[in-house]
Amino acid sequence: MKNILITGGSGFIGSHVVRLFVTKYPNYNIINLDKLTYAGNPENLSDIENHSNYTFVKGDINDAAFVFDLFKKYSFEAVIHLAAESHVDRSISNPNEFIMTNIVGTLNLLNATKHTWGENVKDKVFYHISTDEVYGSLGKTGFFHETTAYDPRSPYSASKASSDHIVRAYFHTFNVPVKISNCSNNYGSHQFPEKLLPLMINNIKNNQPLPVYGEGINVRDWLWVVDHARAIDVIFHQGKIGETYNIGGHNEWKNIDIVHLLCDTMDEKLGREKGTSRKLITFVKDRAGHDMRYAIDATKIKQELGWEPSVTFEQGMNITIDWYMANQQWMDNITSGDYQNYYKEQYGNK
Ligand code: NAD
Ligand code: TYD
Repeated sequence: MKNILITGGSGFIGSHVVRLFVTKYPNYNIINLDKLTYAGNPENLSDIENHSNYTFVKGDINDAAFVFDLFKKYSFEAVIHLAAESHVDRSISNPNEFIMTNIVGTLNLLNATKHTWGENVKDKVFYHISTDEVYGSLGKTGFFHETTAYDPRSPYSASKASSDHIVRAYFHTFNVPVKISNCSNNYGSHQFPEKLLPLMINNIKNNQPLPVYGEGINVRDWLWVVDHARAIDVIFHQGKIGETYNIGGHNEWKNIDIVHLLCDTMDEKLGREKGTSRKLITFVKDRAGHDMRYAIDATKIKQELGWEPSVTFEQGMNITIDWYMANQQWMDNITSGDYQNYYKEQYGNK
């Protein structure tokens, strides 16, 4: 049995990665280290929590001594690092936590890895999961390539960019065997409803206003979370040490168009008259420093590792909307309590 540490496994993407690895690789012992912040939800893994090759550890990557002890206890042979503060709006209202978790937390994991593995790095890997937001904001044309210069513009993306730099520094300076991937916006089941898609789906269902920032013309490149997890699997097993891979679905949407799509699809699914949900759209004050457009060139992972998305956007969205409609209890559990306070602070009474 190979002990593999996955950090942030109780969050949105992490839970999909844990599920894939636990079910696909019975010879891996998956240890999920998660602090269970507001974004971490053990319910995301209730279907696999009793598997014999899965262990949950509650803990904070910002606690260096704790991280060192955990490495001592489990002698990890690989790390897949997803734990992070991940929401741009929260990074604008409270940047400090982002600097701590995304930068210092990553540094703590790298130090423990370096200390534990030393020169004995054969078949070992420290895989850092990052975002396309480190590349900044595109105009109407062009794509982010692996070689695009970093130009982060929000506290979130700046903290992720810093962590990417530190990960590369540990590869070049200390020979820690790292891999990095930078993915575009993910959508799918189990995403916390502070992010665009689950927030809109939840509000449409509840006949609440749909807060679109600015004019709704910002563009994001959307990928189904299960396909991101598949890409992580492929990079983890076949990617080269020291390399970076961009992951994306060549699937660009203006925010307003994706909200229209959600409204129309849900009107149909809910048996509402066409056009009903669009009336809920409310244009609100734009996000500070709002990046205009993200778009990934995913040629490298396709050509070198043979990965490409497994579903069309239409298929992925259908599965996703159906999941949120069938899992109201999951939504109710996380939107009670603190979520109400966050929502009031972020959106006022809109
Ligand atoms: P998320 O916010 O849903 O989950 C983050 C998880 O990390 C939570 O379970 C949380 O409890 C845990 N965590 C936070 N601070 C921690 C700490 N100090 N110690 C231990 N655990 C802690 O995030 P996500 O959307 O699943 O993103 C996962 C990773 O993927 C992040 O690194 C993010 O930057 C990256 N990413 C996300 C997207 C996206 O569209 N969501 C796209 C590209 C890359
Ligand atoms: P988000 O899901 O927060 O992801 P990111 O900022 O990391 O791309 O937002 C996606 C896009 O949707 C982004 O351009 C901001 C916009 N947005 C809204 O218009 N209204 C909202 O309520 C939210 C949460 C996001």
